[in-house]
Amino acid sequence: MNPARGSLLGIEHLEAAEILRLLKFARRMNPDNPRFLLKGKRVLLLFYEASTRTRSSFEIAAKSLGAYTVLIQAAGSSIEKGESLLDTGYTVRAVGADVIVIRHPNAGAPYLMAQHVDVPVINAGDGLHEHPSQALLDAYTILRNKKTFKELQVAIVGDIFHSRVARSACHLLSKFGVRIILCGPPELAPFIATTIAPGVRVTRYLEDALRGTDVVMLLRVQKERLAGMQIDLADYISRYQMTTARLKIAKKDAIVMHPGPIIRGLELTSEVADGPQTRILEEVRNGVPTRMAVLARAMGKMR
Ligand code: NCD
Repeated sequence: MNPARGSLLGIEHLEAAEILRLLKFARRMNPDNPRFLLKGKRVLLLFYEASTRTRSSFEIAAKSLGAYTVLIQAAGSSIEKGESLLDTGYTVRAVGADVIVIRHPNAGAPYLMAQHVDVPVINAGDGLHEHPSQALLDAYTILRNKKTFKELQVAIVGDIFHSRVARSACHLLSKFGVRIILCGPPELAPFIATTIAPGVRVTRYLEDALRGTDVVMLLRVQKERLAGMQIDLADYISRYQMTTARLKIAKKDAIVMHPGPIIRGLELTSEVADGPQTRILEEVRNGVPTRMAVLARAMGKMR
């Protein structure tokens, strides 16, 4: 079965025009001024991995559109008893799901679900693969701050290897000709990452990535993800941590972004996290109108 119309499985195969349509529609979405485009619809949130921002903003987005939400987490559900992904999918469809939002540790899980269940499926993060709604809210945030993608340079710094956020961001930004520079040590920013999308460069040198940059996107560097890698966190901090002094290398009006959760003292200093150039909480806020647009599209209401 082909994925149902309105599914959002990744950014890679989404056309630039469709991305712009989504972003434009998101600008009309306001959770404080609800529009009940999804009145009475049931949004199933199927989370096989921890989440704070993504889950809560999908939930608030759905409710702001008048939908009901049901949250199913791996812990405490039949998933724990060994039920397969597809059987869980059939089950939530049988209880009446109109749309399924799924986060899963395996790349491709949302696609598998979408091939077997006849309702739109939205990928809320699948393994190391994609996190499309995050890329959309990041693009929304960039456009709100920079007005256009034209001539933009974006530096993405941190654990790119483990980051579905980085992959989706590269796919999205490259469709609009944005210069993308990935930066980190070889294990975290391997040169093969240049193949994610056209126009992506990789550098080991933070200065190189920051010079002339309009947007600094930081990524999480999580100890647990680094098992088996030769990463010395003290060395990482000394070479890549975003500090106020380093941020000065970027353009004067550069903004700092991070999908969260942030680790102060590792990826960035508190001074940067709470400084005037940071847009981290704005990103979280923008997650709501963006996901309202994603859900409205899923239900054919993006008009
Ligand atoms: C990220 C994720 O889960 O992919 N967070 C998010 O959804 N905002 C980033 C991460 O966990 O590194």
